[in-house]
Amino acid sequence: MAKKARVAIDRDYRIAKIDKRIYGSFIEHIGRAVYGGIYEPGHPLSDDQGFRKDVITLTRELDVPIVRYPGGNFVSGYDWEDGVGPREKRPRRAELAWFAVETNQVGTDDFAEWARRAGTEVMMAVNLGTRGPDAARNLVEYCNHESGTRYSDMRIANGWRAPHGIKVWCLGNEMDGPWQIGHKTAEEYGRTAAEAARVMKMMDPTIELVACGSSGPSMPTYPAWEDEILSHTYDLVDYVSLHVYYPKKDDDLPSFLAQSCGMDEFIRTVASTCDYVKAKRRSKKTMYLSFDEWNVWYHALASNGKSPRWQTAPAFNEDIYTFEDALLVGSMLITLLRNADRVRMACIAQLVNVIAPIMTANGGGAWKQTIFYPYLHASRYGRGTAMRLAVDGPTYDCRGFERVPALDAVAVEDEEGQALTFFAVNRDVDDPLDVEISLRDYLGYSVVEHIVLDHPEDLLAANTVESPKRVAPRAGTEWKMDGTTLRVRMPRLSWNVVRLAKKRET
Ligand code: AHR
Repeated sequence: MAKKARVAIDRDYRIAKIDKRIYGSFIEHIGRAVYGGIYEPGHPLSDDQGFRKDVITLTRELDVPIVRYPGGNFVSGYDWEDGVGPREKRPRRAELAWFAVETNQVGTDDFAEWARRAGTEVMMAVNLGTRGPDAARNLVEYCNHESGTRYSDMRIANGWRAPHGIKVWCLGNEMDGPWQIGHKTAEEYGRTAAEAARVMKMMDPTIELVACGSSGPSMPTYPAWEDEILSHTYDLVDYVSLHVYYPKKDDDLPSFLAQSCGMDEFIRTVASTCDYVKAKRRSKKTMYLSFDEWNVWYHALASNGKSPRWQTAPAFNEDIYTFEDALLVGSMLITLLRNADRVRMACIAQLVNVIAPIMTANGGGAWKQTIFYPYLHASRYGRGTAMRLAVDGPTYDCRGFERVPALDAVAVEDEEGQALTFFAVNRDVDDPLDVEISLRDYLGYSVVEHIVLDHPEDLLAANTVESPKRVAPRAGTEWKMDGTTLRVRMPRLSWNVVRLAKKRET
């Protein structure tokens, strides 16, 4: 028996213009993300620089606007100078974040070039673990200064005449985490980040800076961390970061899917903490949020740290995502859109092989994981203005959350005001939802398509090298437009994209 939900949309209830950088991703020097992921010289599909063209094609299909690099935990022990200049002279280093051997065959210039080929921007992280403001400002000079100084001339001598023009910089990574190389207290980090920010912006005042917020809402120092670090950096930085990864602990699917409600609480708490600091400082400046690591992560976690040390590009943290995981990723994307007034950047972690939407086989093909699809749809059709919806429908209580809406939804109006797209997850484990959408302000719009991702026959189905298309979207047919009322049946446990466009006047 289908359940019922009602949705109303009003053109005046706009959340915010969406910053397209919320569809960012992340490439770290970890496992096979770089080596065997984006870079595999000798592969039949590699280009003249050793970059895999099949991965570039999939990245372009996702239309990823920005990619964070080079870490992650990796950055906190990284000497950027190791990764520039002639490849044969670059050192092999013992890498202490993941206990691997880093060959440095890919570094700053190479990644900037990969980003150009993939049609994306770089979000560069600096090492505030083992290093500090000095190495950070030198890297800004190396990347962004035209010429005529030590580091800009070093870049030119290395073969890169034009500056890389990197706009967004992260001041370290997860510095609140005891696992982090060079872990700091909030006060220590706040002071270091402020000093790094000052010299980096002296070097290039056009850059934007992201201060490290908490590594997650379960950290014991959260949210006092944000309060303390922002009291040092508020006037110097543009964003504070948030990270979260959701696990599946048991067979409790309703609780698993409700975790995006925790993401929403996390965003609201960090935004409130920023506003509290703003008020304390009598500041006029609003701090924005960079959700620069988010995803579902649990399949491969148990094997983390168990493989032999000091391998080069070992295969680890390679979650093979199920259909269920794609639903939670869909809800996380909806959550980011609903918070588009504060979240200006976000990075699904990561892009290739390591907890990623794209997988590759060494020497073999590349394919799309289940989570590729909600990310693809949101990035393609979720640009413009995020619209607030009034949703009235069934709710459920579960471990950790009460009154979780079965229908998780948001809408986006495109920049030209000619298209409207609804993104929705039906979290109901038993029943389809008959959703009645009142489109009273959108007279003359008609349905272009209803895209459905569902897999009732096996919720744990995944795409693998042997069957890369097992879980894929299909065209939905169960919808009907009646004047300005749209009725759509959303299958139980499904990701839905309903695209409407204004009919052309003849
Ligand atoms: O994305 C994998 C790791 O998760 C990153 O290196 C770190 O920042 C986070 O804990």
